[in-house]
Amino acid sequence: MDTYLTTLDEVLDAAGDVLCRYYGESSLAVETKTSNTDLVTRADKESEATIKKILRERYPTHEILAEESGLDSLSCSEFRWVIDPLDGTTNFAHGVPIFAVSIALQSGTEIIAAGVLNPITKEKFLAEKGGGATLNGKPIHVSAVESLSRSLLVTGFPYADRQILHSCLREIAFFLGKVHGVLRLGAAALDLCYVACGRLEVFWQRNLHPWDTAAGWLIAEEAGGKVSDFSGRQFSPYKAELVCSNGKVHAEFLQWLRRAHEEPVF
Ligand code: IPD
Ligand code: CA
Ligand code: CA
Repeated sequence: MDTYLTTLDEVLDAAGDVLCRYYGESSLAVETKTSNTDLVTRADKESEATIKKILRERYPTHEILAEESGLDSLSCSEFRWVIDPLDGTTNFAHGVPIFAVSIALQSGTEIIAAGVLNPITKEKFLAEKGGGATLNGKPIHVSAVESLSRSLLVTGFPYADRQILHSCLREIAFFLGKVHGVLRLGAAALDLCYVACGRLEVFWQRNLHPWDTAAGWLIAEEAGGKVSDFSGRQFSPYKAELVCSNGKVHAEFLQWLRRAHEEPVF
């Protein structure tokens, strides 16, 4: 395995162990951040500290952008690690085993290596630019489904923006009944990985952050998927809106997404 992938593999396990230690603990304090629905726990912070400690030791000149501590501006380098120490904090805090650690390595504008681990199911997704994507060591591919009407979709809601929520609900109402289903799993990194391994055909969401999408973006693309913004333009983790699909239903999805805002839905 490439050295960055080896590091990712080890760091994901170390962070996953931290999350497992706190998972299900009834006395775990849950604090709020930007709003009453934006949660953080000691597990998020300790997972992040564990990841940063290992990366700092191995790559002292690399930049680190992590959800809970922001951009580490001590160093300036071509390389940046983008970290979500616990994606799906709400699920975690309620004992729902759908959450993950998500870590990506960025070089220039590209993500060159990425890993996502659900420490409960022990599913570990890894990808390297140009080297394909794997789930627990086995190559993964997006699904072969060619039409949206035979697709299972997943989306996510931003935490506090009522205006955006209206658009989200409109889209869900439009798609329900036309596709196999619309899920809301609550962990964007896993949503992307589930498209990558062919379980789901489309994931779309607004108001995302680099740590939510950087790793899953590479994993989905290396598995044959397509990722864009809502208009079909080039995606970047520094863009807040994302559509990820198996590629075959991408154009149809973008067209239906526009229709969701033009036709009566309720
Ligand atoms: C959240 C999850 C959720 C998505 C939110 C994210 P967090 O991440 O990925 O699925 O809908 O927009 O903020 O806060 O649990 O790391
Ligand atoms: Ca997240
Ligand atoms: Ca998080």
